[in-house]
This record gives sequence, structure tokens and C-alpha cells, in this order.
Amino acid sequence: MKEKIILLGYMGSGKSTIGQLLAHALDLPFEDLDSFIERKEGKKISEIFALKGEIYFRKQEQAYLSELLDSPTPMVIALGGGTPCYGKAMELIRAASPYSFYLQLPTSELMARLLPEKAKRPLIAHLSFEDIEEFLNKHLFERFPFYTQAHFILPCHGLSPTEIVEKIKTQI
Ligand code: S3P
Repeated sequence: MKEKIILLGYMGSGKSTIGQLLAHALDLPFEDLDSFIERKEGKKISEIFALKGEIYFRKQEQAYLSELLDSPTPMVIALGGGTPCYGKAMELIRAASPYSFYLQLPTSELMARLLPEKAKRPLIAHLSFEDIEEFLNKHLFERFPFYTQAHFILPCHGLSPTEIVEKIKTQI
């Protein structure tokens, strides 16, 4: 594999878990954009949001995305949930690799995964249980046109991480 493989999708869709498994299976390095940003900025994502605000975060996120996409190294990259939806991200992603995958899950499953860890997620930390579902539905609707620009749309409902990795491997 001489290309990058780019995983995108909503928070909680399994990008980091699948990315690590896939990288291992393909013997490629793995980079998680959120972790890359945290290392570069010396702060947790939640701290960046709290101290500098979302607009600053989005600017840095796009700059670090470009840095990873410009690197000549083949690797598996897991993006942040919002990364594809700002600036020219999808254009750059599609130009950098023929292998971008949208890990698609229904709101109900995302809810179930996100609720237990909502405190760690700056976009939903302040929302009540009742409001999260409405927020997720609206947010997914807004992000759909960006996510669906990925080269491959992978419905992940009911599949284990290993099964998802196998599906990706059949497409590359
Ligand atoms: C965000 C998703 C997060 C992180 C930040 C914003 C989003 O990444 O980048 O909290 O806008 O959906 P994960 O999808 O890896 O949790």
C-alpha cells in the first residue's frame, strides 16, 4: 500500500479504533488527527475549545490536516468528526488519496456510544440527555453533504471493528 487511507465520520463512529486495527493489518503507521493536534498544541482538545474557542480549533485543525496530507508517507489517518466540514477539507482529502472512507452509523447508535463519555466531548458536554438527540440529528444532517464526498461510504451498523477492517481491505 503506497497511499494514505483516510477515515472520516461522526464522533463515536469508531474512526480511531478501526484506524489502529487497519494500520496494524496493513503494516502502516497510524495517525489520529485529534491526537496529532493535542501533541502539537500541548493541550487536550477540550482544553483548546475551552481556552481558545472553536474557531481557533478549526483553523489549527485544517492546518494540521494539510500537514498530514502533504507528508509523503503512506499511512492510515483518522480525522476528527468535524474535519471534513471546514475549509476545503474534502477537496484536499480527495486530492491526497483515492481511499477515503465514511464510517456511517445511525444516530441511535452514535447516541449510545457518546452518552457515557459526553463530558469529554466539547460539542455535547453542556447538553442535556433530551437535547443531545436533537443536536446529533441536526448536526448529522448538516454534515452529510461533506461526509458523503468520501470515496467509499461504509454502513457500519451491526458490524464488529474486525468486520469493518475486512470491508475496507476489500476496497483497497
Ligand atoms: C469534533 C470531533 C472530535 C474533535 C472535536 C470536534 C466534531 O473528534 O475533533 O471534539 O466537530 O465532530 P472525534 O470525532 O475523533 O471525537
